[in-house]
Amino acid sequence: MSGLRVAVFDAYGTLFDVSAAAREAAAAPGGEALAAVWPTLAEVWRRKQLEYSWIRSLSGAHADFWTVTCDALDYAMAATGVESDALRDRLQALYRDLRAYPEVPETLAALRAAGLRTAILSNGSPEMLARAVAAAGIGAALDAVLSAEAVGVFKTDPRVYALVGATFGVAPAEALFVSSNGWDAAAAAGYGFRTLWVNRRGDPVDRLPWRPDHVGADLSAAVAVARAPGR
Ligand code: LAC
Repeated sequence: MSGLRVAVFDAYGTLFDVSAAAREAAAAPGGEALAAVWPTLAEVWRRKQLEYSWIRSLSGAHADFWTVTCDALDYAMAATGVESDALRDRLQALYRDLRAYPEVPETLAALRAAGLRTAILSNGSPEMLARAVAAAGIGAALDAVLSAEAVGVFKTDPRVYALVGATFGVAPAEALFVSSNGWDAAAAAGYGFRTLWVNRRGDPVDRLPWRPDHVGADLSAAVAVARAPGR
């Protein structure tokens, strides 16, 4: 056995494809203005969403993650020259119901079969997460959906990672934390979790004081880690 008792997943970018909103809006009728710029819009939207989360946390100026997400969208639309109320409404609606990556249901089921409990730990507000989980149809495969909103600060504040122990009564080393965000996987390793960085895009490893314990190309790597003999 691996000594792991719970598998905890980041949400946005890890379970849910954050670029899907801009990609789908560009492909839909009326999305012509986005055709050339949607990859840039998606990239800037995500980067600003994270920057704003860190700046608000550092500055003690918390707002929930939906507010941060909408502020970042406004910036990204301005930066790519596609500002319009109709497009903003469309992108916000698509973001609320993001599609999950295809391997999500089978990964959660396999982890449960390996004897682990399963959870989300995300910056997302409870309302955002409830809607995304419902849209993806994965609610029954999760034992808990934990939101940073419970502590009023965003990752990588340790108070967010501490929600896992408070909920499941496990030590950090008994939790496998899975994130496609290199900075999140690194900081979670620093917190003491076993960590898997899902490096879907072949990015370089983040230059931070901590390194993820495992690196995989998609979520199925979590099953291999959970089934591996313990260290
Ligand atoms: C989350 C963001 C960081 O779900 O992806 O917490």
